[in-house]
Amino acid sequence: MTDAASSAARRPIEIVPSVLPADFSRLGEACLALEKAGVDRIQFDVMDGRFVPNLTFGADVIASVREHVSVPFEAHLMVHEPTWLVPHMVEAGCQTVIVHAEACTHLHRVLGQVLETGARAAVALNPASPPQLAEYVLDLVSMVLVMTVNPGFGGQRYLASMEPKLRSLRRTILERGLDVDLEVDGGIGPDTVTGATAAGANVLVAGSALFRDEQGLEHAVSELRSLAEAARSGVQA
Ligand code: DX5
Repeated sequence: MTDAASSAARRPIEIVPSVLPADFSRLGEACLALEKAGVDRIQFDVMDGRFVPNLTFGADVIASVREHVSVPFEAHLMVHEPTWLVPHMVEAGCQTVIVHAEACTHLHRVLGQVLETGARAAVALNPASPPQLAEYVLDLVSMVLVMTVNPGFGGQRYLASMEPKLRSLRRTILERGLDVDLEVDGGIGPDTVTGATAAGANVLVAGSALFRDEQGLEHAVSELRSLAEAARSGVQA
């Protein structure tokens, strides 16, 4: 087994639902059900209609859900120049703030601003972005999100072509002895989680695959977790 694989194998598998496919008129109930289903965190896809061709919700909506559940929240900011929004996301109850490298003229500065709020900082990379885009901020982040779809919509096809990017980032993180998680988001489900995990991801964001599981959220979360663990044991082999 390669060192990078063993490094990946030592990081806990985390299942993080995106609420994008949820019924927004009953978002609180959806988050309660996700918490009951045993998720590790909940991701809120914040879209501004400029960085991505879609518009979702802001800090007030996240804050309205915060008091109903106790799981940590992460804000995935698909927002052009997101500096102004960072403190509002933290005040709304997000423990992790993810910004896109492509959306920040001064990415290093924005991640520093996230850290100054006391939140964990994370950087997201669009499919066309090389892993090098994160290279000089790996010391600032707790996590790198490798998008496995073009951001803006749920229910898209998983891009397996992102797996070499995951392997490259996992190798760099290991070589530099950094404590950084690798997250994937987009098209993650029972058929794709094995490839993403074997390539080095340990945090798995899923929306459609969880909400469309006919056996319910609990089944979907535990199935995804056990498939990821199995892929890891494959990695460990
Ligand atoms: C894209 C979104 C989606 C969503 C999950 O901007 O970030 O990736 O979270 O989508 P699916 O339904 O593919 O899991």
